[in-house]
Amino acid sequence: MRYYLNDCSLVNLTVGQRHVEGVFETTRNDMTSENSSTATPVKSLDARYYTDPAIFAQEQQGLLARTWQYAGHRSQLQKPGDYFTFELAGENLFCVLTREHEIKGYYNVCQHRAHRLLTGEGNSALIVCPYHAWTYELTGQLRSGPNLNSVAGLDKSSVCLSEVRIEDFCGFLFANLDADAKPMDEWFPNVRKELTEYVPQIESLKSLEWVEIPEKCNWKVSVENYSECYHCQLNHPTFATGVVKPSTYDIQAQGHCLRHTTECQQLDKMTYPIDLNSNEHAGHYSSWFLWPMFSFQVYPGNILNTYHWRPVNHEQVVLWRGWYTIDGSDADVVHELAVQDRQTTVEEDIHLVESVQQGLKSRGYVPGPLVVDPSGGVNSEHSIKVLQKWMREGVE
Ligand code: FES
Ligand SMILES: [Fe+2]
Repeated sequence: MRYYLNDCSLVNLTVGQRHVEGVFETTRNDMTSENSSTATPVKSLDARYYTDPAIFAQEQQGLLARTWQYAGHRSQLQKPGDYFTFELAGENLFCVLTREHEIKGYYNVCQHRAHRLLTGEGNSALIVCPYHAWTYELTGQLRSGPNLNSVAGLDKSSVCLSEVRIEDFCGFLFANLDADAKPMDEWFPNVRKELTEYVPQIESLKSLEWVEIPEKCNWKVSVENYSECYHCQLNHPTFATGVVKPSTYDIQAQGHCLRHTTECQQLDKMTYPIDLNSNEHAGHYSSWFLWPMFSFQVYPGNILNTYHWRPVNHEQVVLWRGWYTIDGSDADVVHELAVQDRQTTVEEDIHLVESVQQGLKSRGYVPGPLVVDPSGGVNSEHSIKVLQKWMREGVE
């Protein structure tokens, strides 16, 4: 018999809860307190949040432009001049490594007449615009351009690419278009420390493979599906019999992180060998969803994999699954896990989220009450209550 890491791709260990310190108790009460016998049940978000292009446009301008979102990985920038481009909140951006080995992020737009500067990824000693060959230093400063000296009064030093904030979070680079955004450690308290404990090798990781999963649904439908396991027992057949222990499964807020925890069982029957003595968390399973569109997930054996979502429009999203090993070295175990994940959990979830998107467009749908169990647990949607609060605030 094969035993699976039955995740709803969301599962981890109760042991992780002890690291959360004060934040855990406070947020737990916030998440469940309204469900007492005298309270009115919390209703799910109105369908228009998921179906109205105007709401999506508002999110692109606001929420998605002022939150931390995945840009790429530090291992993509090894030598000065290495760069990669990416999209965020409707903007095309790029990251580059300077000669001083500093990671910089810029809007991918020339300051002359707005042509795009770079495409894909690569290495370039200078950034040269393909339109009229204005040339920028890796620090973003304009260096030269044909016939610029003929322009009376032009001060080249005043022309610079527009910079974007980048944070290196354990080797994972995140961008935020809001120059005044709080640092990630304030958004996601304790996460950096916990991740380093769960994945001691995290600073030397490199991606081994990527799986791209297009879904015909609003990005929030997919994120919500990731963030509750009320649907797991019925829809993920391996869930109740595999490595995780559903009765111990829970999700709690930790700042703007949703932390998934569960106990593991039957580690001796895993599909790959694990040296349980190699470190404190070798036998643990855990995940950290970073609002609004990224998640770190750790499988027993300290195997790190990630999720990030890129919305295409109001009813389409692409979910990316990343799998990492030290220096990107080949590992059959990780390839097999990626295939297994794609064929089971991911496949099962695609059908759920696409059906929900269709249902949200029905005139017959009236938003129902969320199942917020005061004691939390696997059959509770307290995490959805928190997520939907953030979703509402995102377009206020
Ligand atoms: S638009 Fe870039 S050089 Fe003219
Ligand atoms: Fe699921």
